[in-house]
Amino acid sequence: MSDQRPLRFALYEQASVGCGGAPSLWTHPSDDRLGVNSLDRWRSTAIVAEQANLEAMFFADVLGLYDIYRGSASAAVEWAVEAPANDPFVYVAALSALTERLAFVVTASTTYEHPFSLARRFATLDHLSKGRIGWNIVTSYLESAARNFGLDAMLDPQDRYRRADEFMEVVYKLLEGSWADDAVVADRERRVYADGGRVRPVDHAGQDFRVAGPAVTSPSPQRTPVLFQAGWSPRGQQFAAAHAEVVLLPKKDPTEIRRGLDNIRQLAQAAGRAPEDLKSMALARVITAPTASLAQAKYDDLQANYHLEAQLVSYAGDTGIDLSRYADDEPLTTQSQGLSSYVQKSGAGQAPLTARDLRERFARVTRGSDLLFIGTPDDIADQMRDHASASGLDGYMLNPLTSPGTLEDFAEQVVPALAARGLYDTDPKNGTLRSRLRDDRSDRLPSASAAGSYRFS
Ligand SMILES: Cc1cc2nc3c(=O)[nH]c(=O)nc-3n(C[C@H](O)[C@H](O)[C@H](O)COP(=O)(O)O)c2cc1C
Repeated sequence: MSDQRPLRFALYEQASVGCGGAPSLWTHPSDDRLGVNSLDRWRSTAIVAEQANLEAMFFADVLGLYDIYRGSASAAVEWAVEAPANDPFVYVAALSALTERLAFVVTASTTYEHPFSLARRFATLDHLSKGRIGWNIVTSYLESAARNFGLDAMLDPQDRYRRADEFMEVVYKLLEGSWADDAVVADRERRVYADGGRVRPVDHAGQDFRVAGPAVTSPSPQRTPVLFQAGWSPRGQQFAAAHAEVVLLPKKDPTEIRRGLDNIRQLAQAAGRAPEDLKSMALARVITAPTASLAQAKYDDLQANYHLEAQLVSYAGDTGIDLSRYADDEPLTTQSQGLSSYVQKSGAGQAPLTARDLRERFARVTRGSDLLFIGTPDDIADQMRDHASASGLDGYMLNPLTSPGTLEDFAEQVVPALAARGLYDTDPKNGTLRSRLRDDRSDRLPSASAAGSYRFS
């Protein structure tokens, strides 16, 4: 038995045919993602996740089509790269009614939402789901999304994060500060629903938002939904340190992950937060079968249904770099500091990547930069234990390669192998999402958090 605590697992999803990270695999004959518009299909997935005792089903989201590759959205809709993009809030409202214990994390953008309406929507979902809700806070990265919301171009990263910080302040004021814990009296005899003196305006006036308040929703089980965030730039890490309860990572190198997490935890501590209030999960792919050669055969079968062009569409949308415009030997360039890691070879010399390097990398299901666990269930459990102990990660978010497929394999084969090592909590999850994640089992954000100072007192 390991002395390590059980790892935490969530399912990465998107209300789309082409889920991020594996865009063309919906073409696999066993995949049913073409049923994106069928609630039955999503219910089946959620039930498997619930029965497997996953921490949460996570919904990524984008607010525009990927239209960088060849200068239009044609290839993105042909390959269903993060398309269509249905509204994850509507899925989660329905799925939380069709499940009893599974928690859900919804992606919502601080750049294109308004904090008053978003706080209201989250509070309502938190009530109806009995506190099974988290929020993946994003600042959004597509120019196409900016154009859908009346802007000519994206805000620059500094402005996006400044706005995001103010957005959070407004949400905390509304959800944590405008109704006292005991405001709702619900007394039919006295004819009092809520004590008017225990509900107060927020009167927020800042650079981006003016919100009078109070919130129009009553206090929900968690108040603020559990906060997930995936910033990895210096500014993104600063934001995570200020707000995130679960940090998500797109990285695989354990040393790099540990360095980043240490930095975020130090910043969080400097802001007065307890370092253990920040959990972390990395996006991971899992390919497993009872023997190593069957696992390799599964990999080969995925590879046979894998299409380079869909990857290039995805890469172009993520980075703004359109490889259709590059000759094979041409080195990639970007003006953006944030994107420099996408165009430099890692390791000695830091030579720029050429278009050929990337085409070769993206021709493989695992794309070089992705965290992949492949092998028998025992191999995978051992690999995860070693990776988590080297990186300091709390767990992994499973990126479905095929659906059904990846989740079912994990639930049926890998969970028992993890459980045998003490690395999986098989007790049914109960209570609010936050109470499951926190050592003190609290439903609420701690007073030593960015939200704490806005509480009604
Ligand atoms: C696991 C994971 C999931 C993400 N999901 C989304 C998403 O659904 N929508 C989105 O706009 N960005 C998403 N992102 C991007 C992040 O919000 C963030 O912009 C990115 O990690 C770059 O960090 P930076 O903003 O600090 O540069 C995700 C990133 C990761 C690692």
